[in-house]
Order: sequence, then C-alpha cells, then structure tokens
Amino acid sequence: MSRLLIVLLISVLAGCELPQGESKISLPAPESEGAQMMRKHCAACHAPPSPLVHTAKEWPNVIYRMQERRRMKAYELISGPEETILLGYLQKFAKS
Ligand code: HEC
Repeated sequence: MSRLLIVLLISVLAGCELPQGESKISLPAPESEGAQMMRKHCAACHAPPSPLVHTAKEWPNVIYRMQERRRMKAYELISGPEETILLGYLQKFAKS
C-alpha cells in the first residue's frame, strides 16, 4: 500500500470521529453558500477537503465518486441544485 493511501485512510478514519458538520480545516469564503454546503455534505465521512486538492476539471469526477460513497452508506444523495452550488464553489477555488 502506498504511503499516500495510508495517510489518506488515516485522515478519512480520523475524520469520522469529528462530530458531523465540524471540521478543523478552514475553507475559503467560509460564510459562502458553497462552504456551508461543504460542511453539510462532505463532513459525514471525513473532514471537508480544501478545494485546492483538485483542478476544476477533476472535481466533477470526485463529486460523482462521493455520491457513490453516499449511496453505499444509504445516505440521501446530494440534490441537483445543491450539487451545482458545491461544484461551483469547488471549481471557483480549485487548483489551477
Ligand atoms: C459517504 C461518505 C463520504 C462523503 C459524504 C464524502 N466522502 Fe469524500 N471520501 C469518502 C471515502 C470513503 C474516501 C476515500 C476513498 C475515495 O477516495 O474514494 C473519500 C475521499 C475523498 C477525497 C480524497 C480522494 C480524492 O479523490 O482526492 C476527496 C478530495 C473527497 N473525498 C472529497 C469529498 C467531497 C468534496 C465531499 C462532499 C461533496 C465528500 N468527499 C463527501 C467518503 C465520503
């Protein structure tokens, strides 16, 4: 197993111990609708990631995969309009 994967797994597991909706990571524009969406929809399994971890082109695939993760846990899927806000936020602050 690669070191990166181990670090990722540890951070995912550690994230699970945070109370839902809380994160130690500070998001850009923390009061914006997008950041609120991140705290609402991305904190159940791990701390919401920084938008800088992916490029604008990569984010749609990551969101798609996270929806699949929600499905696997029988969580309600993120609705279309909320997904649009999330993606807009992630792409606005994405890695260039
Ligand atoms: C139902 C649980 C769950 C939710 C909710 C969730 N994730 Fe994840 N996430 C995972 C798991 C499990 C992994 C590790 C496996 C993987 O990468 O698919 C992960 C890994 C990641 C990674 C690191 C891997 C990569 O491709 O860079 C990012 C970034 C990420 N999630 C972003 C998000 C965002 C953004 C949201 C909110 C829209 C979110 N996650 C919500 C379960 C979840």
